[in-house]
Amino acid sequence: MPFTTLSACDVQNKKVLLRLDLNVSMHDGRITDTTRLERVLPTIRHLQTNGAKTIIVSHFGRPDGTLVMELSLKPVAEKLSELLGSSVNFCSETIGAVTQQAAENMNKGEILMLENIRFYSGEQANDKDFAKDLAGHADIYVNDAFSCAHRAHASTEGVTHFLSAVAGLSMQAELTALEKAVANPAHPVMAIVGGAKVSTKVAVLENLIEKMDVLVIGGGMANTFLLA
Ligand code: 3PG
Repeated sequence: MPFTTLSACDVQNKKVLLRLDLNVSMHDGRITDTTRLERVLPTIRHLQTNGAKTIIVSHFGRPDGTLVMELSLKPVAEKLSELLGSSVNFCSETIGAVTQQAAENMNKGEILMLENIRFYSGEQANDKDFAKDLAGHADIYVNDAFSCAHRAHASTEGVTHFLSAVAGLSMQAELTALEKAVANPAHPVMAIVGGAKVSTKVAVLENLIEKMDVLVIGGGMANTFLLA
């Protein structure tokens, strides 16, 4: 599948809407697993050193279009700042005048994280006007959220109708590995699939079963198969 890479893209002085998956594990307000944050540091650093103004957008949990303060991304912005070693400003809104102003005031190399996009019903509904407003913050869209790329939401699919879309570094690595393993694999080939949310993975399994010699189901969803 052809896609535009970050290295082929001039981000100097451009406002970049960066979609990340910051749906991290949290317990009592404390982040218990920073893997998802660490995976996206190279993309953020690339944008920073190449003079972009980076506006991070992500979901966190499933607030379903309502404001749930326990699902605010503010603690995630603080942790990201700590791991990055540079400041990450936080905007308590995702679209609207306040966000627009915050984006306009950015300098080259600065990072702004927007509040949980799923506080807005337009996100999961992939509302066209909502996607347009979100895209209005930026000049370029970079997606580094492979783990939510299967969702047709405003911040993953909708915005691509208004901004040119580029793969982030971890997205690029995932797509390259996937292409090698699935599109043209050396046989015999085995896929190991894990995770908890089996309902959204059935289509993936149906696709893989055609191409793999062995399919191994692990993680939480193995229980569903055992029960069935
Ligand atoms: C995940 O944690 O699996 C991703 O962030 C996607 O979350 P979702 O299943 O709530 O869309």
